Amino acid sequence: MRNTFILIVLLSMFYVSCKSPGSTSGDANIDRRVDSVMALMSLDDKIGQLNLLTSDWDVTGPTFRKDYEDLIRQGKIGAIFNAHTAAYTRKLQKMAMEESKLKIPLLFGYDVIHGYKTIFPGIAAIEAAASGLHWTFAPMVDIARDPRWGRVMEGSGEDAYLGSLIGAARVRGFQGKDLTDPLTILACAKHYAAYGAAQAGRDYHTVDMSELVLREVYLPPFKAALDAGVATYMTSFNELFGIPASASQFLLRDVLKKEWNFSGFVVTDYTSINEMVEHGYAVDHKHGAELALNAGVDMDMQGTAYLRFLKELVDEKKVTVAQIDDAVRRILKLKFQLGLFDDPYRYSDEEREKQLIYAPEHLDAARDIARKSFVLLKNNNQTLPFGANVKNVALIGPLGDTQHHILGTWRAAGDNAKAVSLLMALQQEPGFKVVFEKGCDIEGTDKSGFAKAIAAARAADIIVLAIGETAEMSGEAACRTNISIPGVQSELLAELKKLGKPIVLVLMNGRPITIEKEVDMADAVLETWFAGTQAGYAIADVLTGRYNPSGKLPITFPRNVGQIPIFYNMKNTGRPISESKYTSKYLDVSNTPLFPFGFGLSYTTFAYSNLALSDSLLHSNDSIVVSVKLANTGNFDGEEVVQLYVRDLVGNVTRPVKELKGYKKVFLKKGEEQTISFTIKASDLAFYHSDLTFKPENGDFMVFVGGNSVDVINASFKLQ
Ligand code: NOJ
Repeated sequence: MRNTFILIVLLSMFYVSCKSPGSTSGDANIDRRVDSVMALMSLDDKIGQLNLLTSDWDVTGPTFRKDYEDLIRQGKIGAIFNAHTAAYTRKLQKMAMEESKLKIPLLFGYDVIHGYKTIFPGIAAIEAAASGLHWTFAPMVDIARDPRWGRVMEGSGEDAYLGSLIGAARVRGFQGKDLTDPLTILACAKHYAAYGAAQAGRDYHTVDMSELVLREVYLPPFKAALDAGVATYMTSFNELFGIPASASQFLLRDVLKKEWNFSGFVVTDYTSINEMVEHGYAVDHKHGAELALNAGVDMDMQGTAYLRFLKELVDEKKVTVAQIDDAVRRILKLKFQLGLFDDPYRYSDEEREKQLIYAPEHLDAARDIARKSFVLLKNNNQTLPFGANVKNVALIGPLGDTQHHILGTWRAAGDNAKAVSLLMALQQEPGFKVVFEKGCDIEGTDKSGFAKAIAAARAADIIVLAIGETAEMSGEAACRTNISIPGVQSELLAELKKLGKPIVLVLMNGRPITIEKEVDMADAVLETWFAGTQAGYAIADVLTGRYNPSGKLPITFPRNVGQIPIFYNMKNTGRPISESKYTSKYLDVSNTPLFPFGFGLSYTTFAYSNLALSDSLLHSNDSIVVSVKLANTGNFDGEEVVQLYVRDLVGNVTRPVKELKGYKKVFLKKGEEQTISFTIKASDLAFYHSDLTFKPENGDFMVFVGGNSVDVINASFKLQ
């Protein structure tokens, strides 16, 4: 029953297609209602709708500054972020509904990124909506190819194709089928655009790239979010082509609003309009407001530049009332679509909140999704899962008993006290005894705990060492130039290694880290990221073999920082690596990553064979079928993510050495085999040419199939 519930929730979150906010059947009716509200609004009232301000949070709960409360009463705030709980949003909404002149409902937003209370990838919309929220600042669909950047863990990695699918699925998950359903919330595709390409992986830093790369790599997930019906976009902090994104007519007016015909609204990131001054693009905040509105920004997050200056700018004829009307219309339309004009309190229902927050079904889903996200990086001699001989487990390491770090960053209202540490979970396992020693801290040089840790490990059959990063080493303004395992954690591993016992490394971190020597020392390595509220149970499921790991890396793990940027779909260059000196390589380290994109082991093994194409010629407007035999050749039932890549050998502009074009997750019982097939259409091979037209080009292609981006078998075909 519970499983059925989860299935229904997941299906509705990920697979139901949703109507674009601009294309619901009631649209004409909503337009009429928006017009009727706008007819009552003064210019001040309209400008008020464009203003988004933050609530604060105190130990006693959420708070709102007194002067902001007055702004609500004066109709000078259209939306509030960081205010949450059904009771508190109701209180603020009441102020707007009972004390402001026009009684326009407020919109409540929040960074519900990795969950609201139950922290894990999913269910977020239901819990957030039950706590009075209408709008999340997610999904982040920024392509991230530099693991120094702290925000890589907010998105879906380095690949535009994968990022587009995940971005669209998250939009559908948040928005559901129908925005009037009080368990759905508005999504926000961010940060538009190219925020992940900050120079040197340093947050907020300059971005510079060709329009070709922008369109080929960084924009597709934003477009996919649009096609999935995303209601809002957030501008990015960075400049692009020398222009801060919030002032970019190219990004906002030309691409988003004209070329893509986006009908929802655009919000800035936090005080981005004001920051145009520091960028050296605006003289002052007023100038910033002018640039932003003219570029197509509809709502100002926290900068109050619109509130302070738009009216003057209208008087001075620097902006038009028509532009302001357009922005207001977009915002009011979504408030109507959420049903807020029919019942402004529909999301602020304390009963529903009690029932849904931390619902057992949510916790079960959190556990299941978390274990599916783990990536087994090494498993020599079948160290995992624990065999019957494992009677005593030594759990060592500063992340072994944390309820804090496992929630990661962007944890919204997540509560450490509800999180299950790895120790808490292992203590509930019936088959073995567990002793725990922290050994050291995540950071710092203190080794005084080593002796106790070694003593505990000496008495055990197997050592589980939980090490990695702090939660705070990821997220906004959390970049690192040294992405190795911090502190003395590695030294602790080296000491434990001397005991000659099997060592399982359980890694917790928010980015690819440089772990070549740690991987060498360990017998098994399980990458668990920051797995959320049920992390401990999920990891225990994998260690004990109740769940056979199936996750694959969405981002490349470099050997060292000097290899960055390193990603699977690089170009070949004119001098690809060879024995010869004058080829593209380093003197001190190979070109290969430590773990490639798409990599991940299972407790069982899979063999690929019989790669076949339905035809070696592909005609435009036609398709070919690629099939491969997959066999489970190991000792466990298991799932494999079968990946399909292509290479266009000669192009109008050079093409990457591989491009992901499809994948399928397949479950096979041990000993079973199955033929897996993919269809490649000519249109799947389209790319941006030097004149920026998007089309396929006739010629020779290679197709690759395998369990990661390196270990593949291949075949060839011709497009003509
Ligand atoms: C700044 C971050 O860049 C953005 O992702 C977030 O949504 C806003 N702050 C609001 O908290």
